[in-house]
Amino acid sequence: MQRLWGGVGEDLETGFLWFHSKCQATGQSGRRQRPRRSPISSIAFDRAAQYYDQTRGLPAEVSEQLADRLQAAARPGARFLEIGVGTGRIALPLHRRGRRVLGVDLSVPMLERYRAKAASAGLPPPPVMCADATRLPVRDACVDAVIEVHVLHLIPAWRQAVAEVRRVLAAGGVVLAARRRWERSQGRGPRALARERHSAILAELGVRRERVGAHGDPEVISAFTELGGQVEELEPVTWRDDETWAEHIDVLERRVWSDSWKIPEDVWHEGVRRLRAELAAEGVDLNAPVPTVRHVEIAAIRF
Ligand SMILES: C[S@@+](CC[C@H](N)C(=O)[O-])C[C@H]1O[C@@H](n2cnc3c(N)ncnc32)[C@H](O)[C@@H]1O
Repeated sequence: MQRLWGGVGEDLETGFLWFHSKCQATGQSGRRQRPRRSPISSIAFDRAAQYYDQTRGLPAEVSEQLADRLQAAARPGARFLEIGVGTGRIALPLHRRGRRVLGVDLSVPMLERYRAKAASAGLPPPPVMCADATRLPVRDACVDAVIEVHVLHLIPAWRQAVAEVRRVLAAGGVVLAARRRWERSQGRGPRALARERHSAILAELGVRRERVGAHGDPEVISAFTELGGQVEELEPVTWRDDETWAEHIDVLERRVWSDSWKIPEDVWHEGVRRLRAELAAEGVDLNAPVPTVRHVEIAAIRF
């Protein structure tokens, strides 16, 4: 345990800590260290690093309230690990408060963005590892809280990631997993409706958005409860967003959502063209702000 945190702290003064599959610090060796690999890959967010915070950013007070919930749900002085930490949207406020948060992600550009944000806020470099959540390069039972926000749906071998999360949790540890309740997290404004209506048009064109990992919230929660976890719902963080159709059609046009990345360019844009035509026929003012209520809901799963 000491070696994990000691080693991470020292090495990260100078840059990223790299773990390759052959040198995982799992404490296991030989054949047992090599889990079966899925033929399909997880979706790394390299291409999203430059725009992720503009399209998924949370208002500052929402980020702080979320950090309050996460901090309160873990024991004082908890060692946190976030799988798929990305640009630190969730982890950075905890890091700013001096909490120990180790961020793991497959994407170096996302981790670089996280570290650049910390540097520009005058903070020390947050500990990060470029690694796969299905093969966490940390010892058994060495963290107290694992955060998972919008990651398991990107991982074909997501059950293996769940098993890894359980393995690294110390006794009395907690998983803090974002609920994936689309209608509540995205609201019912242009942000959600632009995607839904565009998906319906794509389906008419014979194309479906790709979903490689966990399919839904109940599936993820029950994978953790099957391992012995007890679920407690944290108080949701709720806020009002003024959204316009224009900004969310622009988001569609830029193909920012990962489930769009494998859809052929021409079909995608034909879908956007048809959506614009439908909205024009309905007389929708694309620039009028539409007040929308959004929520972040976190389940604390205690072991
Ligand atoms: C939608 S982003 C969420 C980032 C962050 N949790 C947040 O809420 O802002 C998903 C992140 O998971 C990462 N990711 C995908 N598959 C992964 C895997 N198998 N192991 C680690 N990270 C992974 C992606 O590179 C991306 O940065």
